[in-house]
Amino acid sequence: MSRETNEATERQIRSLLQRMTLAEKIGQMTQLNGDEGRVSDALADRVRSGTVGSILNEVDGPTQQALQRIATEESRLGIPLIFGRDVIHGFRTILPIPLGQAASWNPQTVREGARLAAAEAAASGLQWTFAPMVDIARDPRWGRVAESFGEDPHLASVMAAAMVKGFQGPDPTAPDAIAACVKHFAGYGASESGKDYNTTNIPENELRNVYLRPFKAAVDAGVMTFMTSFSDLDGVPATANAFLLTTVLRKEWGFDGFVVSDWDSVRQLAVHGMTETDRESAFEAVTAGLDMEMAGDAYLSHLSALVEAGRVTVAQIDERVGNILRVKARLGLSDRARTPPCSPPEPASARAIAKRAAVESLVLLRNDHRVLPLDRAALDSVAVIGPMADDGYEQLGTWIFDGDPARSVTPLAALVEGLGPGVDVRYVRGLETTRSRTATFDEAATAAEAADVALLFVGEESILSGEAHCRADIDLPGAQVELVRRIRRTGTPTVAVIMAGRPLTLTNVFDEVDALLYAWHPGAMGGPAIADVLFGIESPSGKLPISFPRVAGQIPIYYNHKNTGRPASPGSVVSIESIESRAPQTSFGMTSFYLDVDPTPLFPFGYGLSYSSFEYADIEVSAPQMDMAGSVTVSASVSNSGPVAAVEVVQLYVRDLVGSTTRPVKELKGFRRVELSPGQSKRVAFVLTADDLAFYGRNQRRAAEPGEFHVWIGGCSTTELRGEFRLRVEDR
Ligand code: NOJ
Repeated sequence: MSRETNEATERQIRSLLQRMTLAEKIGQMTQLNGDEGRVSDALADRVRSGTVGSILNEVDGPTQQALQRIATEESRLGIPLIFGRDVIHGFRTILPIPLGQAASWNPQTVREGARLAAAEAAASGLQWTFAPMVDIARDPRWGRVAESFGEDPHLASVMAAAMVKGFQGPDPTAPDAIAACVKHFAGYGASESGKDYNTTNIPENELRNVYLRPFKAAVDAGVMTFMTSFSDLDGVPATANAFLLTTVLRKEWGFDGFVVSDWDSVRQLAVHGMTETDRESAFEAVTAGLDMEMAGDAYLSHLSALVEAGRVTVAQIDERVGNILRVKARLGLSDRARTPPCSPPEPASARAIAKRAAVESLVLLRNDHRVLPLDRAALDSVAVIGPMADDGYEQLGTWIFDGDPARSVTPLAALVEGLGPGVDVRYVRGLETTRSRTATFDEAATAAEAADVALLFVGEESILSGEAHCRADIDLPGAQVELVRRIRRTGTPTVAVIMAGRPLTLTNVFDEVDALLYAWHPGAMGGPAIADVLFGIESPSGKLPISFPRVAGQIPIYYNHKNTGRPASPGSVVSIESIESRAPQTSFGMTSFYLDVDPTPLFPFGYGLSYSSFEYADIEVSAPQMDMAGSVTVSASVSNSGPVAAVEVVQLYVRDLVGSTTRPVKELKGFRRVELSPGQSKRVAFVLTADDLAFYGRNQRRAAEPGEFHVWIGGCSTTELRGEFRLRVEDR
C-alpha cells in the first residue's frame, strides 16, 4: 500500500473516530455470532444502530448482503461489517489438514491452497478467515496438532507466511481476497499434557525462540489480524496479556491490524480466576490491548461504564477501534459492499489444487522389499480393507464447516478406477468406525488371502482430532491393531495407509506391514492422490513436520531439543531387561534416557522415504570463518541413486555450539524441494547470514553470538553429513 493511501486511510479513520459515539465505537469492538441464514429483528437493529462491527459464522450470501446493506446504508456512519469464518484447510473443496500440508515442505502448494480457499470463501461473501493456526505443536495428544504446521519454528514460519499470502493475495481489496488471522497468540500449542485449553508455562526465552517465531513471520507477511489464545501463559491469560498484546505485538513488531479474542475468552478471564466480574475482565482485556471481543458481551456491557468511571480512556478506545477500521479500509469493505461477491473458482481447477496438495502431503514411512509402488499390470486381485477406505466424510478431517463431502473421492473409488475392470477389487470395511472394538475379521482375512496385495485403510476418523478432541492414548483406536495383525497372518503382502489428524504411535503395527504410507486427513482428493502414489504415478515426497513417538510416554519429543548436561549416547543407554537384580544405582548410565523405551522417536522430524533413493556427499562451507556482516554458503551434492525420477526435500540444519542461553542440538534453517531423474546429481546451496543464526539470548534481545557452528545437509533431521564454520566479530 502506498504512503499516500496509508495517509488517506489514517485521515479517514481519524475523521470517523471524531464522529463516532462511544456506543458506536464499542460496537465496532464487538463480534456476534450470526443467526444462521436469517436476519432477526434484534440483529438488524444492532447493525442499524452501529453496535456490532463484525459477524462470524454467517455464510448465507443473501443474509450477509442484507446485513451489509443495513450496515452501510441504514446505520448512521455506514461502516461496513466484517464477516469471519473458520476457513482452515479449504472452504468447499477441502484440502489436506494443515499438518499434512506442512508435510509437503512446499510453501507454493500451501499458498495456492489458501488462495483457492479464499476465493471459494469470498464467493460466499466472507472477508475474513480465522487461520492460519501457527501454534508450535510438540504434543500429538493435543487434538489441534492437526491444525498446526508441526514442531519446528522455521518450517511453521515459512508455512505461516505462505498461507497468509495465499488468503490475502497480492491485493487484499480484490474480490477474491480475504483477511487472514494468525492464532492463537500465544503459546496455546504448549497446553500441558496435550489437553486443550490447558495452562501453559513457557519461559520468555523459549517463547521468543520457538513459539513466537511463526507469528512474527505472519506479521512480516502482512497478516491483518491476530486471535488470542484461550490459555494462560505463565499465569496471565493470553486474552488479557499486555506483554503479548502490547509489548511484543505493537511495540516490538509494530503490528497495526487488529486483535480479536477467541470465543468468549474475555468473560472466561473470570473462569481462569484472573478477575471477579465481567466488568473487570473487559477492563483487563482492553487495557492489555485486545481490540475486538468474539461472541461475548463483556465489552458491550461494561466498556462505556469503564470509560465514564475514567478507568479506560477514550484515547485507548480510539486506538482499538482505529485498528479495526484500518483493516476494514485495507480490505476495501465499503467498495465490496456495493458489488456482488466474486464467482467461485472452477471445480476442475479446485480439484487439481486439492489433489496436488494431497499428493505432496503423503509420507512413506516404510517400504520393505519395494512392495510399493504396485505394478498394476501384474495384479489380478486386490483387497481393500478398513474403515477409512471408502468414507468421503472421514477423510476430510477436522474443521470442515462448509466442506462438501460430495466432492470427496475415496481411495476405494480411485483404486477401482485406476485398476480398471481387469483387476478384482474386494472391499471389506472390517470395522464400522475406527473406534469400533468388536468385529470378526474373517471376511477381511478371506479377501486378503485371495488377493495379491492387501491395502489397509486405517487411522482416526475426523472426530478424534481438532478442538477439544485430545487423546491420551494415541495408538490406532478401536480394534484396528487386531485387524492389521489378522491381515498380516494371511501372508499376503500388506500395505497400510493411515489417515489421521495427528502422529499416532505406530509401534504396534510397524512390524505387521510391508509398507506404511501416512496420509493425515488428506481432504477431498485424498483418494486419487493415494492411488497415484500406490501405483507409482507419483513418487512420495512428503517429509514429517513433527516427530512420531514410539509411545505416548515420550511426549514431548522433538528434534530441536537442548543437549542437557548429560545427554544420552548409544553406550550410556541401559535397557530394563539388561539390569541385574540389586545392580548398583550408578550402573544406569546416568544420562538422559528411559529404561523401558528407546529414547529416539519412531520416525524423526524431516523423515520420509521415496520410491527412489538419494545420496548426499561433499558438504562444503564456503569459508571457515564468517563475519557478522557477511555470509557463508553451505552446499552439498545430492544424487538420485534409485530407479525413478523423484523429488527430494533437501534440508539444512545448524547447531550453535555455545550460546548465552543453551541452544538446540539442531535447528532447521533452510529446505528446498529438488527434482532429480535417476542418476542425476545436483549441488544444492544455502546461504547463511548472521540474521539466520540470531536468537534471543540471556538478555532477551535477538542477536547472533560469535563462536563455532556445525551445519548439516541431508534428507532428514538425523543427517550426519556435517560441515562447520566460525562466526566472528570483525576486527575494527
Ligand atoms: C474457537 C477456536 O479456538 C478458534 O480457533 C476459532 O477460530 C473460534 N472458536 C471461532 O470458531
